Amino acid sequence: MPFRRLRSALTLSGLGLWLSIPALTAMAAALTRDDDAAARAQAVGAVLALMLLPAVLLAPVGGMLAARVDRRLMLLIADVLRLVLLVTVPLVGTLPWTMAAAFLVAFVGLLWTPAAGASLPALVPDDPEPRARAHRSAIRVVAGPAPVAALLFAIIALIAEGALGDDSRADLAAFVTAAVFLVSAAVVAAIRDIPASVPIHVTSPLKLIFQGPRTSAGTGGAAGAGASGGGAGAVRGLGLAVTAASLMACAVVAVARVHTGELGGGDAGYGSILAALTLGVASGLFLGPRVLAPFSRRRLLGLAVLAAAVTLVVLALVQNLVVVVFATGLLGVFAGAAWTTAATVLTDPDRADDGRPSDYLRSVALVTGVVAFAVVPLIAGAAGSHRLDLGGAVYDVDGTGAALLIAAVLALLAGFVAYKRLDDRHGIPLVPDLRAALHGDVYTPPEQAAAAAAAQPVHRGQRGVFIAFEGGEGAGKTTQARLAAIWLRDHGYDVVTTHEPGATKIGMRLRAMLLDRDTTGLSDRAETLLYAADRADHIANVIKPAMDRGAIVVSDRYVDSSLAYQGFGRQQRVEDIARVNAWATGGLVPDLTVLLEIPPRAGLDRLSAPADRIESESDDFHERVRTGFRALAEADPDRYLILDASRPQGELSREIQYRIREILPDPIPAGTEDVTSTFPIITDL
Ligand code: TYD
Repeated sequence: MPFRRLRSALTLSGLGLWLSIPALTAMAAALTRDDDAAARAQAVGAVLALMLLPAVLLAPVGGMLAARVDRRLMLLIADVLRLVLLVTVPLVGTLPWTMAAAFLVAFVGLLWTPAAGASLPALVPDDPEPRARAHRSAIRVVAGPAPVAALLFAIIALIAEGALGDDSRADLAAFVTAAVFLVSAAVVAAIRDIPASVPIHVTSPLKLIFQGPRTSAGTGGAAGAGASGGGAGAVRGLGLAVTAASLMACAVVAVARVHTGELGGGDAGYGSILAALTLGVASGLFLGPRVLAPFSRRRLLGLAVLAAAVTLVVLALVQNLVVVVFATGLLGVFAGAAWTTAATVLTDPDRADDGRPSDYLRSVALVTGVVAFAVVPLIAGAAGSHRLDLGGAVYDVDGTGAALLIAAVLALLAGFVAYKRLDDRHGIPLVPDLRAALHGDVYTPPEQAAAAAAAQPVHRGQRGVFIAFEGGEGAGKTTQARLAAIWLRDHGYDVVTTHEPGATKIGMRLRAMLLDRDTTGLSDRAETLLYAADRADHIANVIKPAMDRGAIVVSDRYVDSSLAYQGFGRQQRVEDIARVNAWATGGLVPDLTVLLEIPPRAGLDRLSAPADRIESESDDFHERVRTGFRALAEADPDRYLILDASRPQGELSREIQYRIREILPDPIPAGTEDVTSTFPIITDL
């Protein structure tokens, strides 16, 4: 019961904390309403910077003071002091006092935050589980009300615009904020039992930045396991990414009030921008760990920053308040996603999170924020308003838009560098990587896949020879396999011709399932396993017995078909397909694989029978299959013969014969067959 009451009180106080930001900045804008945009932007920026400054400079002092005083008293004092400050701001009505009050409100907030963060956990039993929950609850209480505060501010502004004159329009928000603190104080006063235990220690953000993000002992742990392989460069990339994200969000906040004015909006528009930003950030925080799960987090971080920067370009250039609000929301999503992703990259998953990594990131973001709040409005002032003549059409660039554009360009550059530094998938093209991740997969480049396939254990000790024919649809491999078999038989070899899928009884049933167009909804994995099952049965009942007796086995399709169709075609991880098949085949690899290459369209056009389930796949699918076959073959030229299937049949056969001859054992002198039971067995046909 006291827990819930305290939580409500703290939530209210948190609401006041967030509400005081637009309230005080709007006040600064109102007090400078007769000045030019540059002066107004600087006044607003100064208030914002002053509200962040205590957190940067005085955080440890705040923590120390908060730790000395009884917790309940501390919370009460904090609420009452802020209440008083906020009431005085409209009453005094000068810019210097508004700025001073902003600094003081923020400093009091510094006393409040650690006290609030420590008092909720102190109310629950001293077990790890409830404590952790209470900690999360405390974080939510402090950060959660931000979007609510922004929306509330927009509503207050709408009411004030309707009801109050120019002079007192900004007052209402300040009074409402004060009232919120009053209610919070009343609730805290009614709670008797807030324990005064749990020491509070707050480390200075500047010190944290100086120390760097040491998440685990030793240098290798500089950025935790999540950032393995990259060391200092990666950590710098991480810092850069967070700096850029914070710069963009803070730049928008810094000029939002004045920019809204330039676009014809007022405090309500300002509130909407803040609401969009906070809601966007909240969604980004939620989505960050959930989207593109198989995708590299480090790449995602770089991409999120770049996406935010592109959004900021749009935001800066489009002079329409609605577009600006939406773009701000989107920017928030990207920035929020960048933030959680950075925290994930920095956190060593093998260790319990000791809070250090995100403390470091928070410090980086905080310091960036102060700088952005102070500098961005100055740039806006320096840039001033310009009218561009675009061959007839005029385009007005106001200083705030120009400042945002500069911030966007800086962030874009920082994003690029961060992406490069963080990239843990060097040389792997981004687009297929992203596309695979969209399908819930990790992209494997053809070379790596081929290496994985080549790493299959080679089945030694077999006596026969195994030749596979591979290729896309209509490449003519069936014909070439038959011609090769005839030629081999003509030379007296024991040849078994076979094919996949469907060379055995069970295989025929599997083939029917796999190729029947009435088969719908077959999952990619199930398809893979059915082909592998057919293959296992094929080996056990046809290939292995034939090899054991020393025959030459010529198979129309084998494992590579699965790698190409189920791996590349279906965009599943080729290594996985290789592993499943290595098991299914017991590691049997062909001595030679003939790959007949043909552009998919040409091949499909050659077919006469109605297209089966696989043949009727998209052109893209068949294109990927072709690329896959090629990649597999090129990775192991010794074991493959690649042929252009559009060449005349006779030529192709000759090339194939020539190559097969190389892998056949030395010709055995006539007359010795009867004394050797080893290869080759000559049969009389
Ligand atoms: P196949 O009978 O060789 O037909 P085609 O006359 O087109 O060569 O092969 C049947 C289909 O099965 C073919 O479209 C390719 C596909 N397939 C796979 O997708 N994975 C595999 O492992 C195998 C062996 C075939």
